[in-house]
Amino acid sequence: MGTRPLQGWLLLFLLGASPLSLAQNLYCHQGVYISIEDDPRHAFNWTTGKVEACDNGSFCQESVLLIKAGNKTAVLASKGCTTEGSPAMTFIQHSPPPGIVTVSYSNYCEESFCNDMEDLLQIWKPERNEVPRVTANLHCPTCVALGTCLNAPSLPCPNDTTRCYQGKLQIIGGGINSPLEVKGCTSVIGCRLMAGVFTVGPMWVKEVCQYPSLIQPRKAENGATWLLFSVWRLELLLLLLLQSVVHCS
Ligand SMILES: *[C@@H]1O[C@H](CO)[C@@H](O)[C@H](O)[C@H]1NC(C)=O
Ligand SMILES: *[C@@H]1O[C@H](CO)[C@@H](O)[C@H](O)[C@H]1NC(C)=O
Ligand SMILES: *[C@@H]1O[C@H](CO)[C@@H](O)[C@H](O)[C@H]1NC(C)=O
Ligand SMILES: *[C@@H]1O[C@H](CO)[C@@H](O)[C@H](O)[C@H]1NC(C)=O
Repeated sequence: MGTRPLQGWLLLFLLGASPLSLAQNLYCHQGVYISIEDDPRHAFNWTTGKVEACDNGSFCQESVLLIKAGNKTAVLASKGCTTEGSPAMTFIQHSPPPGIVTVSYSNYCEESFCNDMEDLLQIWKPERNEVPRVTANLHCPTCVALGTCLNAPSLPCPNDTTRCYQGKLQIIGGGINSPLEVKGCTSVIGCRLMAGVFTVGPMWVKEVCQYPSLIQPRKAENGATWLLFSVWRLELLLLLLLQSVVHCS
């Protein structure tokens, strides 16, 4: 990882020197960022300065998955060329507050360097007032970690959460192959932090939970699922907000 501004400068210089190649070919910002943050909004510059030249028929993409449990937020972000999909901006709230919050954003666009979002200010606006509003009786082990949680303190849950979630995710694609462990309070039922939406741009998320022995085998999980779609307008961008609410039978 790490930025390599020199390489970016060289490429940009070449582009400037031969505008014909710009007209024909697509160039995209490239980068991968994987981290656990206290506040991801200003945590990093998502536009690294690295540049990737794409094959014909490609798009530029920028995609990020954010998962907050307790005070920590996992950030898995990718930029680069992609050959699949179509131009679109997608914002999905996989699991809503209170409790564990999971959102993803993906932008596929057609012009060189159009994947130029620098921070997550427009994407990440979690609830601030979660800490004081806690229930007296529900506590959950809480953590989020790349790999495995080293410790997961049992913390009081926000009101309106109903259970503890414990799951392992594997995020693959877009230059990322990373395991993630997530524990915390939620109102999501079952192993459904992603709400059944497992693609985040070029990333694919595999979600696995260790059920208590009472729960039925996995096949019974394909119960009634419904997604609620709504469109939001944000300040600078028209974002398609796909708000998923999932009910398991
Ligand atoms: C982020 O990095 C890009 C490329 O290096 C640079 O052009 C841009 O100014 C940076 N943005 C911020 C807010 O530092
Ligand atoms: C890509 O498409 C352009 C214009 O259609 C064409 O001139 C160029 O040869 C193509 N490049 C490759 C590598 O196929
Ligand atoms: C979150 O951070 C605040 C301030 O640093 C701290 O007071 C609070 O105990 C933390 N909460 C959790 C759940 O870790
Ligand atoms: C949270 O739930 C507890 C117990 O149900 C209740 O006493 C308390 O008033 C609730 N707090 C808020 C802020 O809703």
